[in-house]
Amino acid sequence: MEKIIDEKKQGEALLLNKSDKNKRKLFIESYGCQMNFSDSEVVASIMASEGFNTTNKLEEADLVLVNTCSIRDKAEQTVRKRLEKYNAVKQSHNKNMKVGVLGCMAERLKDKFLEEEKIVDLVVGPDAYKDLPNLIKEVDAGRDAVNVILSRDETYADVSPVRLQSNGVSAFVTITRGCDNMCTFCVVPFTRGRERSRDPQSIIEEIDDLVTKNFKEITLLGQNVDSYLWYGGGLKKDFEKASDMQKATATDFAKLLDMVAIKYPKLRLRFTTSNPQDMTMAVIDVMSKHSNICKYIHLPIQSGSDRILKEMNRQHTREQYMELITNIKKRMPECAISQDIIVGFPTETEQDHKDTLSMMEFVQYEYGFMFAYSERPGTMAARKMEDDVPQEIKKRRLSEIIDLQQKHSGERLEKFIGQTVEILIEKESKRSKEQWSGRTTQNAVAVFPKENYKVGDFVNVKIDSCTSATLIGHAVDYSENN
Ligand code: SAH
Ligand code: F3S
Repeated sequence: MEKIIDEKKQGEALLLNKSDKNKRKLFIESYGCQMNFSDSEVVASIMASEGFNTTNKLEEADLVLVNTCSIRDKAEQTVRKRLEKYNAVKQSHNKNMKVGVLGCMAERLKDKFLEEEKIVDLVVGPDAYKDLPNLIKEVDAGRDAVNVILSRDETYADVSPVRLQSNGVSAFVTITRGCDNMCTFCVVPFTRGRERSRDPQSIIEEIDDLVTKNFKEITLLGQNVDSYLWYGGGLKKDFEKASDMQKATATDFAKLLDMVAIKYPKLRLRFTTSNPQDMTMAVIDVMSKHSNICKYIHLPIQSGSDRILKEMNRQHTREQYMELITNIKKRMPECAISQDIIVGFPTETEQDHKDTLSMMEFVQYEYGFMFAYSERPGTMAARKMEDDVPQEIKKRRLSEIIDLQQKHSGERLEKFIGQTVEILIEKESKRSKEQWSGRTTQNAVAVFPKENYKVGDFVNVKIDSCTSATLIGHAVDYSENN
């Protein structure tokens, strides 16, 4: 895809002198996955060197950037509504306000966005953020600007992210970008391109910086973290052809995780997302070996039916997934597991749905993220299969899945009552100014009276009761982690 510069807005050109430039305000907001939130921090950093300071007031923005999600139709509709809101604010507050669309919708719709949404001046795909300074110059000169070129090697390893709306305690560090898996329902391989891994040295440097700034918890982030592989750059398939020596010196995800856990023994480590077909026993071993790696795995299943898994092009069977769960529980009985499930994938029968429910019974997931199938243009499922499960059936199946998950989540939380768990304090509880809120290693939220503790402390908390989603307890003492 070539870069497109549209001249049609030449007439309303707004040329800024340098001093104006240094005062400009950027309002940036993100929708969708954690990767988008993390990317926005990269974008804020790139824009800061162009003289843009971030603001959290839309009304005072000179430039609005919205980082968008295409995963389901609803996600796209949410963004379209936001564009209407920006338009209203532009009319009422600042006629010169510019609006840019980033992320997956930008990549999917490309220059069509400029036709469909008059408010949009700038369209930038997930691999083109380093081109923002040039694109902004075009916009300043009154021209629309689009760059949606996907890259084979861009990882933004050399950009130091500006932490937006951070609690100062937990941060995301991106380790891979893109996805090569081609699940038939998923738009991500089209919007985020080929899988590529980031240089471990730059990952360590970013974590070093976060540790210096007193961050206490890092989540290593990727669409598919288990396929992380660094042997000097390039694509994974090139590696498969490469020499044994390269293989021997390569860093895979288990090695990376081990390295980070050893280097930062006081840092809590998390990672997401794991793909069942790529998760190795080596990763599970590393997790069980280090107490600073949180005992929580997000392990999407999507469906419990072998036939549907095959139609989805998930590269594992129901049995293989169950075996993986058994191995995880054997090594780490306390490990929490969460799921993503899609109901109503084309051709899904009542029996397929029952297979999903029985898989949930088998695993007893701590949490879940559950969705009705939403056909995405261009995906293999959209091209080859009819979206044939009626809306009402999708709805009913979704509510059955959600009900069962709620039951399991409640039961899993109740098991903590009477136990003492280590909580990392993240923020004040939303419900009470007198309480702190934080998470256990299993990612369960807990609240307890503040006493003299502060944000960023690791505290041993005895759990007295729970609601459907939150543990309630009281501090018993400082943990040795402090
Ligand atoms: N590997 C990625 C997955 C991103 S998509 C990650 O980092 O988590 C997140 C979830 O959205 C998927 O696991 C799937 O359950 C759901 N999803 C993806 N495409 C969908 C679609 N077309 N309709 C409904 N749900 C979808
Ligand atoms: Fe999407 Fe499957 Fe990759 S869900 S992000 S294609 S692992």
